[in-house]
Amino acid sequence: MYTLEEVKAFAYGCKKCKLHKERTKVVFGQGNAHAEIMFIGEGPGQQEDQKGIAFIGPAGQLLTKAIEGINMTRDEVYIGNIVKCRPPNNRNPMDDEMEKCLPYLRWQVKLIRPKIMVCLGSVASKKIIDSNISITRERGKWHYKKGIWILPTYHPSAVLRDVLKKRFFWEDFKEIKMKYDAIKEDKK
Ligand code: URA
Ligand code: SF4
Repeated sequence: MYTLEEVKAFAYGCKKCKLHKERTKVVFGQGNAHAEIMFIGEGPGQQEDQKGIAFIGPAGQLLTKAIEGINMTRDEVYIGNIVKCRPPNNRNPMDDEMEKCLPYLRWQVKLIRPKIMVCLGSVASKKIIDSNISITRERGKWHYKKGIWILPTYHPSAVLRDVLKKRFFWEDFKEIKMKYDAIKEDKK
């Protein structure tokens, strides 16, 4: 069993897929190592690549607002991505890249042991929940796998592009909060 810091050190030196060639920094993910809630995006964007921190660009700011909107903070949760290196021009990560990178996320989940995982957007939802999932139809519906409640929702970038999605995004965050509170209540 590795520690989270050890897995991160592996990722920092990783050249397993072609995305290593154009990255500035590996974006491993960050937050509370014992978080109850994990947010998973698809891969770093430009600002994330520069700083090495997940979700700090425009989409990240919306995500931060949504997290704060349910009375939580970024430090309480864990925020990461399917691929740890930026795909050139923000294209979607390719299947071979995701497959090569997924072991890092598996380690993260194993070590952090979240109760809730939120898949942000289609790429993360397809990879984590079901390759046939349609976000438009199935966002906001819970899945339960290996002891973890998993919720697909829109990617915050999609919400920034289409204001009509905003209401549903907020509804999903309220749903996350209710599930979180219910899990806390159960533990008492
Ligand atoms: N979009 C993502 O999917 N992940 C990030 O870290 C930033 C933008
Ligand atoms: Fe390694 Fe993942 Fe980066 Fe590819 S995206 S080089 S698998 S850390």
